[in-house]
Amino acid sequence: MKENVERSQWGSKVGFILAAGGSAVGLGNIWRFPYLAGENGGGAFVFIYLITVAIIGFTLMLAEFTIGRYSQSDAVGAFRKIDKRFGFIGFISVIAAFFIMGFYMIVGGWSIAYIFKAVTGAISTTNPDFLSGEFNNLIGSDIQPIIWGVIYIIINIAIVSSGINKGIEKASKILMPALFIIMIILAIKSLSLEGAMEGVKFFIKPNFSEITPRVVLNAAGQAFFSLSLGMGCMVTYGSYLNKNENLKKNAIIVPLLDTFVAIMAGFVILPAVFAFGFEPGEGASLAFVTIPAVFTTMGAGIGTIFTTLFFILLTIAAITSSISLLEIPVAYFIEQKKFSRRKAVIITSSIVFIMSIFASLSNGSLSNFTIGGKNIFDIYGFMTSNILQPLGGMLISLFLAWILGKKKAIDEATNGGTIKFRLADFWIFLLKYIIPILIFIIFLSGLGIFNI
Ligand code: PFF
Repeated sequence: MKENVERSQWGSKVGFILAAGGSAVGLGNIWRFPYLAGENGGGAFVFIYLITVAIIGFTLMLAEFTIGRYSQSDAVGAFRKIDKRFGFIGFISVIAAFFIMGFYMIVGGWSIAYIFKAVTGAISTTNPDFLSGEFNNLIGSDIQPIIWGVIYIIINIAIVSSGINKGIEKASKILMPALFIIMIILAIKSLSLEGAMEGVKFFIKPNFSEITPRVVLNAAGQAFFSLSLGMGCMVTYGSYLNKNENLKKNAIIVPLLDTFVAIMAGFVILPAVFAFGFEPGEGASLAFVTIPAVFTTMGAGIGTIFTTLFFILLTIAAITSSISLLEIPVAYFIEQKKFSRRKAVIITSSIVFIMSIFASLSNGSLSNFTIGGKNIFDIYGFMTSNILQPLGGMLISLFLAWILGKKKAIDEATNGGTIKFRLADFWIFLLKYIIPILIFIIFLSGLGIFNI
């Protein structure tokens, strides 16, 4: 295949792992994973989540890296280049990216708002009612979350407009290690709270009678969401990889990093929930109400510092993910529509801004507008992790095994046979049959066909 010399590439091996890891590690791990675990039976959910990550994590991530690097194209172009008829798979990715950004930018905005609340001491209390009230006041307001969301979107625009090497890679190189260190400190603090062990038990001990189809669906959907899979994100990032890079190693490291952070987040948040008597099924507010309470017990001054650190951390994690989301349509507009990077970023973020307004208002004035009991904010999440991502994952899996084909796929994944890959045949077998069938079942559940 002819190399496109003008496409940018990652500047270093570490840069790519941090960027792909940065995409995977985000609000999904720190905000969404602990509250979904809380709502779906704790250990039972975590158990299914880990099984899903083990089965699809490496397999599908390697498939996406392989397709991306083989074709050296954006999410739509990658499929189109290999077979003209299949550009629509990438198109699903572009649509999914818009829907995720439609609520992601708002939650990113909440996180920035909480940095300021933390610094000013406005949330330094252990009173659950006060903390829930603060959270509901913020998200229920028609204006405030939108203003914070705009600030958040502007930070994203600034990073993505600078391009791959200068923007995304540089940002991730600084932000990701900082995130890891702060996370470990926070987990140690939370685990030392009195009563923390009950939360640990809830989180890691699966009660098998709680494994219902709904729990399976939510856990599997969360695995897709958290690993940024099934929507061309890793295809796009993989397309900026050079031909010497070891795809297999990256496809192992990234899911491990992601799972590590999700589990750490569980160890930060769930012990705190039990130590203070919060409700594990509290929902989207969980991280926002429990964390300030934990740190307040450490004393006013230190508590303020730790709470501030936590929300800086959450914002950092969110940014390294949302820049990868933004890059999906941006790369598409640049390569397929021949827009300049600047124009692509502006058009994409304007659409995202409008979608975000609806998501935010659905927690306030538009809360009565629901479909199937879900407000717009929840519909965006449902559409993506329960429908578009599993669908995309199934198609990507089938595409690699049946259309790109075993020979070319293994050749690309092993850098022309120079990297040992003993389980290559098994990898293809999983992609050809097992993963699509499993995802098909998840996908049907997502549509509510099993009535759960
Ligand atoms: N994986 C990100 C998170 O856990 O927050 C969210 C995400 C980013 C999903 C990029 C999908 C994606 F393409």
